[in-house]
Amino acid sequence: MNIESFFRFTYGIYIVSSSDRSSKNGYVSNTVFQVTSEPPQLAVSCHKNNLTTDFIRKSRKFSVSVMNQNTDSALIALFGYRSGRDENKFAATRHISGKTGSPIVTQDALAWFECEVENEFDLGSHILFIGKVVDCDLLDETNKPMTYAWYREVKKALSPKNSPTYIDPAKKKKESSPANSTKRHQCLACSFIYDPAVGDPEGGIPPGTAFEDIPDDWVCPVCGATKDMFEVMV
Ligand SMILES: Cc1cc2nc3c(=O)[nH]c(=O)nc-3n(C[C@H](O)[C@H](O)[C@H](O)COP(=O)(O)O)c2cc1C
Repeated sequence: MNIESFFRFTYGIYIVSSSDRSSKNGYVSNTVFQVTSEPPQLAVSCHKNNLTTDFIRKSRKFSVSVMNQNTDSALIALFGYRSGRDENKFAATRHISGKTGSPIVTQDALAWFECEVENEFDLGSHILFIGKVVDCDLLDETNKPMTYAWYREVKKALSPKNSPTYIDPAKKKKESSPANSTKRHQCLACSFIYDPAVGDPEGGIPPGTAFEDIPDDWVCPVCGATKDMFEVMV
């Protein structure tokens, strides 16, 4: 199997949100698509470990925000690499409440949809929810939607493990490489490159520090992603 074939699929970048009583949560998704027009229905593939998946299963409601091409990397890092179990993602994120009560991210969004779950399918690692669109609106007619290809090629970013389109780096073709200690590491969320020769002096990491020797509580100086969101560059 040539794993690169999977990167020829086209997708957008979305934030799927839902709520459980007073708690709001959402996650970044690249697997959202319209499946019927009469009635209008959307499909979303949600990892079973996502907190948002629990919220959708309970509330039977979710929203989808279509993200624009200039979406802040920090917003993608927050919704795509961190869990609502650890922090309130909506605390500093612009949003509105839909007619079903679902939170809807409006920050960096072009359009949004609000859905009621009509069906769900257990896919093993993920649940595929089919939702009927009960409301939608356009927020920005000028900007372009962010595509997954653009996210990968321009932002040089990748999907994390919970994404259905995640590809284990070990499965990608790689040449054998020297020990990681002199290697540069790249943030999967915003593409910042940590270079041991430069370090991160403002973050308290002097030049000459191997990535492995950086303290575990260090975060990406650009988007705030945690250390485990970095991948060695080959
Ligand atoms: C570009 C990108 C695409 C993603 N696509 C999906 C997806 O389609 N389905 C999914 O379940 N998770 C996807 N994820 C991962 C979730 O956004 C991530 O696991 C998130 O932290 C879950 O948050 P929650 O536990 O607060 O719900 C994606 C992440 C990124 C950055």
